[in-house]
Amino acid sequence: MAHQDTRRFLKLASALVAGLALAACGKQTPPPAAEAASAPPSAPVAAPVKVVTVGTDAAYAPFEFQNEKAEIVGFSVDLLTAVAEKGGFQVKFVNTPWEGIFNALGQGDRDMLISSITITDERKQTMDFSDPYFDAAQLIAVKETSKVAKFADLKKLKVGVQTGTTGDETVTKLLGKTSTSVKRFESTPLALKELEAGGVDAVVADNGVVIHYVANNPGSKFKTVSDTSFAPEQYGMAVKKGNAELLAMINKGLSAVKADGTYAAIYKKTFGTEPAAAAAPASAASN
Ligand code: ARG
Repeated sequence: MAHQDTRRFLKLASALVAGLALAACGKQTPPPAAEAASAPPSAPVAAPVKVVTVGTDAAYAPFEFQNEKAEIVGFSVDLLTAVAEKGGFQVKFVNTPWEGIFNALGQGDRDMLISSITITDERKQTMDFSDPYFDAAQLIAVKETSKVAKFADLKKLKVGVQTGTTGDETVTKLLGKTSTSVKRFESTPLALKELEAGGVDAVVADNGVVIHYVANNPGSKFKTVSDTSFAPEQYGMAVKKGNAELLAMINKGLSAVKADGTYAAIYKKTFGTEPAAAAAPASAASN
């Protein structure tokens, strides 16, 4: 019966290894050991569905924000929900202020982040990113009456940004590290409110969010100003450095939703247009 013993041992060992591997990438309930060990050799072992805790700063419409019922909704939520379904995990979104979001990931309070996070070399040193899922760039918001026509015009002005964002970095570079003209806010909507109130002369933030705000707040009387000097940015989902298991599940789900048209459908639902990569010529676009 040496053969049977070896088989039982191998089965137990692989169940254990699988459980350990999953435990390493998030909270989950391992199958009871006794059950796994007594299952007939041919029975598929039901994979435990892992619940991944997702941090997001839900003050960033149309990507992540709270609806009237205080539910976290938006492009990122739709996308990650679809990604998780294909990747074989479950998600639980937790509103997490931007200023503490990377710490929450590093300390293990969140298993992953989706928060319109630009993939940067600096951030890559402390976290791992999924494949990119969205192209972005900075965009300037000013009052309709403003004379600002390009980024360099902001040099002598007060500029609002969300603390610690790529918008903050971009403006800090232009105005200087010690400049008191960079006004930092906890959220991008707060910076935009201050623009309306006249406390700052411009706001620099991600284009999708600025465009959405300007379109949905006609009373603010803002316009947008773009500048070719703004570097292209790409959003990625972040996991704790070294969490290769979860990252693989995310990337697997992401490529599946890109391939089967789900990504394009969510994009169109959010922005009303096809994603750029698959875009038809403007003249042929019909919605
Ligand atoms: N893309 C910018 C960055 O990574 C801003 C992201 C802000 N996201 C948010 N949910 N507040 O710095």
